[in-house]
Amino acid sequence: MDKLLIQGGTPLAGEVAISGAKNAALPILCASLLSSEPLQLSNVPHLNDISTMLRLIAQMGVEVTLDGADGLVLDSRGLNNPLAPYDMVKTMRASILVLGPLLARCGEAKVSLPGGCAIGARPVDQHIRGLQAMGAEIHVEQGYVHAKAKRLKGARIVTDMVTVTGTENLMMAAVLADGETIIENAAREPEVVDLANCLVAMGAQISGAGTDVIRIRGVERLHGAAHPIMPDRIETGTYLCAAAATGGNIRLVKTSAAYLDSVVDKLLDAGCEIATERDAITLKAPRKLKAVSLRTAPYPAFPTDMQAQFMAINCVADGAAVIRETIFENRFMHAVELIRLGADIKIDANNAVVTGVPRLDGATVMATDLRASASLVIAGLVAQGETLIERIYHLDRGYERIEEKLSRLGARVKRVH
Ligand code: EPZ
Repeated sequence: MDKLLIQGGTPLAGEVAISGAKNAALPILCASLLSSEPLQLSNVPHLNDISTMLRLIAQMGVEVTLDGADGLVLDSRGLNNPLAPYDMVKTMRASILVLGPLLARCGEAKVSLPGGCAIGARPVDQHIRGLQAMGAEIHVEQGYVHAKAKRLKGARIVTDMVTVTGTENLMMAAVLADGETIIENAAREPEVVDLANCLVAMGAQISGAGTDVIRIRGVERLHGAAHPIMPDRIETGTYLCAAAATGGNIRLVKTSAAYLDSVVDKLLDAGCEIATERDAITLKAPRKLKAVSLRTAPYPAFPTDMQAQFMAINCVADGAAVIRETIFENRFMHAVELIRLGADIKIDANNAVVTGVPRLDGATVMATDLRASASLVIAGLVAQGETLIERIYHLDRGYERIEEKLSRLGARVKRVH
């Protein structure tokens, strides 16, 4: 398995381009199942999760054609196998996003239940309950969700909690349903809005995306469209944290601070100078960061996907901070690895108290999940000496060419096989 070897201590400097958003691209790839006409995508990130999703829809009968450096054309005219098998779903829970589109387009679907994952049980009961409200007959047996519906009917759905992929699955199911669907307590994440924009380009009738009430009026069919994937706000935030932790000065292009207000606010509180342009953002770090407390919550509050990265910068900040994780039940696994690098972190249920230390010292650490691995990279960049990060396949799921982009910013990092 690949590892990442980092020589810490170099402030990041320079400019890199941010890739398309993984968490917008994944549902949008599934949206191609909804129309028999081609969907042309651009700014698609080259990530393992994207390749996995492409393999999954290709074995259903979708024709995938590469189109330039970061483009794809998806043609699901030949869709004939509404099945998502366990051996593909187990590697990526977002596979559940094919359920709604398959039901809407084919009237049936057999989708393996996604296993839990390191950060939590991550059930899909809200996806199932919402589809049942729209008239789907669903039963779960032998680890598969079996779903059938001649034609889904519009319904009013109130999810028990804010769920990003739950909102996305139900929105995609609703676009071809008979009548109007109202999703209340809907997720407001920018990736939900990007999916809605793509669906509208395909002829769907959706209003309210980005608010907690989304209305979808079903239509007979969708047509083809062309859609650029929005920039990845979590990749953007991750590089901002890496520059902040290393006392750096960087410029990120092909991105925007528009969807990162809560993260930018915390970086400003930590003493960073941040300038935003239409499609770029620059950060100049202070010599010493101030510790910042935070509490994760659904958008527009502080994103859980940035919690691990902020724990890393608090490890070397001045003072103590409290980090409260309210979305997932087990998303502090990076803490024990950071402690191996010399961090002072005390975990109490879903609270972590991080007290800044004068320095971290390189060591061998192990990545456990995607964003935890990003926090280990940040810590390795600031630690004295050499840090070896194992199991970086987690990183490759969500960060395109990370060692290349970091090297371009002056980091001393290389991938070892
Ligand atoms: C999406 O996951 C993202 N993944 C996650 O990013 C992100 O951390 C999460 O939203 C929260 O922002 C994608 O978009 C592909 P949820 P999702 O449904 O949709 C509970 C990353 O690092 N819940 O919003 O799976 C759930 O257990 C990944 O890129 C139910 O109980 O998250 C969690 O506690 C990690 N039943 C909470 O709701 C359900 O049916 C929020 O989960 C659905 C969710």
